[in-house]
Amino acid sequence: MALAWTSTTSTYSLTSGSYLLLVLLLLGLNSGICHGLGSFGFDIHHRFSDPVKQILGFEGLPEKGSVEYYVAMTHQDSIIRGRHLAASNNQSPAPLTFANGNDTLLINSLGFLYYANVSVGTPSVSYLVALDTGSDLFWLPCDCNNSTCETSLQTSSGQVVNFNIYSPNASSTSNKVSCNSSIYCDPNQCPSAKSDCAYSAVYLSNMSTSGILVEDVLHLITDDVQSKVVDAPITLGCGKNETGIFLNGFAPNGLLGLDLGNISVPSTIARKGLGPNSFSMCFGSDGTGRINFGDNGTLEQKETSFTVQPSFPVYNISITQINVGVNVSKMEFTAIFDSGTSFTQLRDPVYTFISKTFNSQVTEK
Ligand SMILES: *[C@@H]1O[C@H](CO)[C@@H](O)[C@H](O)[C@H]1NC(C)=O
Ligand SMILES: *[C@@H]1O[C@H](CO)[C@@H](O)[C@H](O)[C@H]1NC(C)=O
Ligand SMILES: *[C@@H]1O[C@H](CO)[C@@H](O)[C@H](O)[C@H]1NC(C)=O
Ligand SMILES: *[C@@H]1O[C@H](CO)[C@@H](O)[C@H](O)[C@H]1NC(C)=O
Ligand SMILES: *[C@@H]1O[C@H](CO)[C@@H](O)[C@H](O)[C@H]1NC(C)=O
Ligand SMILES: *[C@@H]1O[C@H](CO)[C@@H](O)[C@H](O)[C@H]1NC(C)=O
Ligand SMILES: *[C@@H]1O[C@H](CO)[C@@H](O)[C@H](O)[C@H]1NC(C)=O
Ligand SMILES: *[C@@H]1O[C@H](CO)[C@@H](O)[C@H](O)[C@H]1NC(C)=O
Ligand SMILES: *[C@@H]1O[C@H](CO)[C@@H](O)[C@H](O)[C@H]1NC(C)=O
Ligand SMILES: *[C@@H]1O[C@H](CO)[C@@H](O)[C@H](O)[C@H]1NC(C)=O
Ligand SMILES: *[C@@H]1O[C@H](CO)[C@@H](O)[C@H](O)[C@H]1NC(C)=O
Ligand SMILES: *[C@@H]1O[C@H](CO)[C@@H](O)[C@H](O)[C@H]1NC(C)=O
Repeated sequence: MALAWTSTTSTYSLTSGSYLLLVLLLLGLNSGICHGLGSFGFDIHHRFSDPVKQILGFEGLPEKGSVEYYVAMTHQDSIIRGRHLAASNNQSPAPLTFANGNDTLLINSLGFLYYANVSVGTPSVSYLVALDTGSDLFWLPCDCNNSTCETSLQTSSGQVVNFNIYSPNASSTSNKVSCNSSIYCDPNQCPSAKSDCAYSAVYLSNMSTSGILVEDVLHLITDDVQSKVVDAPITLGCGKNETGIFLNGFAPNGLLGLDLGNISVPSTIARKGLGPNSFSMCFGSDGTGRINFGDNGTLEQKETSFTVQPSFPVYNISITQINVGVNVSKMEFTAIFDSGTSFTQLRDPVYTFISKTFNSQVTEK
């Protein structure tokens, strides 16, 4: 693809009432584009532009986008974190993050998605999961072999990376959910109230996961110098059967849903009183980023409201204007903000406006 996203930082701030706010904070990290007062937008850089060439030119690291590259990056981050001496803050409860750290990684070879290293169960086992603001369920490949889930991956350099596979039997804190206790069970596969709660989730592009719902703990820590342990009881999908590109390098080691649905990890954290109903994700220009739960953002941040339909609780925002260099168009439409979709999709007339005005203003080949 010819486009690469850079310089975009987003904070989602969900208040507990009916007013749900989306907060977008833009960092002009490496471009000269100005965001006018009271407006915000995204910078798009051509794949071969200087900012992107700078980003891709990482020396002394394995090939950018490879799994080894991100293992090296998280290792480097852990070292930096070890030396971290940030001042501990005052009254407000500290935000939470994953016990393995708050890093998120954009992994091109795994479907151009943002991943995080999460740990679940007792003893704790870690998984490299995709972060998806477009769905609610957190599922892990579970009690499966390579015929129904992806158990390993061969990197471009030929190295084989084995993934951890979750097993309720191997975790002393896991409990199977029974059919009578969750609205998320598939009624067609619930012969009696006592049966295991079967779930099945189908995503765009014809991929799916199915299995049973279990309860276990997601290991979190406070995102401050104390790094206090917080074990969040959550419901997750034990994904016994994945189909489609889930078997082909897209979220091969599980998916963590972040939308407004009740079963999602942020909703669960808030419902259990472990933190406010908000989370933030920051996407850095080099593909690395941060996630934390209970971050309210800052007072200076720009905000826009969500239109929430309970039947499809995604982050639906209204866009009122598009600026492409000198061209300004007041076009109103809604769009969903979905970290689990790799590329931006726009309908006409928006698409035509952007492509025409972009092409008319580009002078270089
Ligand atoms: C995830 O974190 C664990 C614990 O720190 C570490 O052992 C593992 O290598 C990490 N996995 C990846 C893919 O970074
Ligand atoms: C979270 O990210 C910040 C950098 O923004 C880093 O200094 C801090 O150590 C990280 N905390 C954890 C728990 O990973
Ligand atoms: C995979 O697991 C299924 C069900 O447990 C089993 O029938 C099958 O033989 C296994 N296949 C391999 C290659 O291990
Ligand atoms: C799945 O695993 C079995 C047993 O380890 C192996 O023989 C087979 O080649 C694997 N299949 C794939 C598609 O990787
Ligand atoms: C888990 O444990 C139960 C009860 O001991 C057993 O029936 C089942 O086969 C085990 N499942 C796996 C995947 O080991
Ligand atoms: C569901 O059924 C299980 C097993 O029969 C029982 O222990 C549990 O209390 C029931 N839960 C609800 C909400 O009825
Ligand atoms: C969707 O996936 C199923 C199972 O993998 C396959 O049989 C079906 O043909 C696919 N449909 C489309 C529209 O790709
Ligand atoms: C896995 O799910 C697909 C799609 O629902 C289904 O066609 C297939 O039979 C399932 N495979 C197994 C082993 O359950
Ligand atoms: C989510 O939970 C709230 C409060 O418990 C409930 O009113 C609402 O109906 C639930 N929504 C869904 C989609 O289950
Ligand atoms: C975030 O805002 C909520 C409601 O306004 C408040 O209860 C909470 O303490 C705030 N959390 C942080 C970390 O500032
Ligand atoms: C977003 O909200 C608008 C109403 O404001 C609605 O027409 C549209 O269908 C919603 N989009 C999605 C994907 O839910
Ligand atoms: C973009 O702006 C230029 C210069 O003002 C103008 O000539 C052109 O018609 C505009 N294009 C569109 C699609 O509005």
